[in-house]
Amino acid sequence: MKGPYLKKKKQRMLTYHIQNVITAMWSCARPHGKYREIYPGGFLERLDILIDFNTKRVLHLFCGSSKFGDVRIDINPEVKPDILMDLSKQPIPFEDNLFDVVIADPPYHDFPPYCFVKEAVRVLKLGGFLVILHFLVYNNPKNCRRWACIAVSPGPNRRMRACNIWRKESERLP
Ligand SMILES: C[S@@+](CC[C@H](N)C(=O)[O-])C[C@H]1O[C@@H](n2cnc3c(N)ncnc32)[C@H](O)[C@@H]1O
Repeated sequence: MKGPYLKKKKQRMLTYHIQNVITAMWSCARPHGKYREIYPGGFLERLDILIDFNTKRVLHLFCGSSKFGDVRIDINPEVKPDILMDLSKQPIPFEDNLFDVVIADPPYHDFPPYCFVKEAVRVLKLGGFLVILHFLVYNNPKNCRRWACIAVSPGPNRRMRACNIWRKESERLP
């Protein structure tokens, strides 16, 4: 079995639905890397099975050391982002409705968790996916429908995270 068929089969193995929202528990590997709080091992691979990044234009906010995405944004010059900026203060420097996927792994401490969300939705295409990985189960952003909420285990002795995924439904912004 190859390509999309295998992906669909794997997707069914990874998830189930509650009231039309995809849910699951992903048991990932303990993250290893120079920076704290990098993605749990296997997280992006599972996300790819679910969303299928192939042919999608991806904006990666708070990218850290991860090289994933067509455009990577972070405040830390050491991680060599494509755009170096403060996402809590500056608007994302792209036009509206440009990306198929916006993925964000914001800091977990001493950071206002909703500060970037309106901007993330603005640059997302209609029908596009907004993914936020955090300790929080986020409130639904305006004009977005919750598509999935997945518990992510980053391995023993680590705090659980929530993978929040929405689809943008309307171009009207608050
Ligand atoms: C939880 S880490 C993301 C780690 C990433 N998932 C990885 O695998 O390396 C949060 C990231 O947000 C960045 N960050 C913190 N404050 C920021 C801000 N105000 N604007 C943009 N990026 C910020 C940090 O530099 C850090 O790389």
